[in-house]
Amino acid sequence: MERRTERMRERLSATVLVCTNERTEYAACAAVDGGDVADAVRDWLCERDRYWSDVAVAEASCLGMCSEAGVAVVVQPHDEWFAEVTVDDVPTLMTETFDAAAGDTAVTEPTTTD
Ligand code: FES
Repeated sequence: MERRTERMRERLSATVLVCTNERTEYAACAAVDGGDVADAVRDWLCERDRYWSDVAVAEASCLGMCSEAGVAVVVQPHDEWFAEVTVDDVPTLMTETFDAAAGDTAVTEPTTTD
């Protein structure tokens, strides 16, 4: 075992966990577009050159907020917990979480390469 805490703390400012868990008992995150929500989170970060440069994304198993209305998302170390997230919610979730954390309430526009 190799402890990489310090190295990863230097590299990453946050990790977004997106539940893509499939349940057989009832519809939950996988059945309500968990994969699409994870893709939307990655896309938002890629458009801002932040995907794995300082924000990691991991697809997770059950985060304890199962719902048929949307996906569970957790942002650490911000300690922000979201339930019933849809693809349409992702831009607001990410903007409020990351821009507010940076003290900037303005919406961050994606980087363009004209
Ligand atoms: S299956 Fe996603 S939070 Fe439980």
